[in-house]
Amino acid sequence: MNRIFLIGFMGCGKSTVGRNLARALNWKFIDLDQFIQEQEGLSITEIFSQQGEEVFRMLEKNALDKVATLENVVIATGGGAPCTHNNLERMKETGLTIYLKLEPEGLLERLLPARKSRPLIANKSDDELLLFIREKLAEREPFYNQASVVADASVTGVEPYMQIIKLYQ
Ligand code: S3P
Repeated sequence: MNRIFLIGFMGCGKSTVGRNLARALNWKFIDLDQFIQEQEGLSITEIFSQQGEEVFRMLEKNALDKVATLENVVIATGGGAPCTHNNLERMKETGLTIYLKLEPEGLLERLLPARKSRPLIANKSDDELLLFIREKLAEREPFYNQASVVADASVTGVEPYMQIIKLYQ
């Protein structure tokens, strides 16, 4: 097993954990949104506004297919990635999937100052945001919960993840 997919809601810490974990393992780190932005030469916000969410989901699926062939890599996926186009199955077939689980209140705290670059929440008020998180998380958790490992994302540091990975090696 030399490929790890981090999944979970926006704001759960996939990119931060992924970057630190890759460093600790001496593997490469890929942020799937970043990968899509580089391939398209557009920001996620521009893709959503110019081409729509459906096109973004296709680009996301294609990007995932590409990175799922790389070796020794930690991949942070976008919050919606495991929920469309059988992406979760693809991830489970090709790597270790870890769900970074955080309660809605914890997600809210992290997302309140980080709405701008995320088109799905960019225009939501504070109150609307909590409601959105609750509803969307309920919709997505059936996917997230199928990950091979569910990790408590309120715990910081990479040590718990290193322990998990040892078990799967
Ligand atoms: C999305 C999450 C974002 C990004 C896009 C859509 C989602 O990634 O892929 O804005 O549907 O939850 P992060 O989870 O890294 O914020």
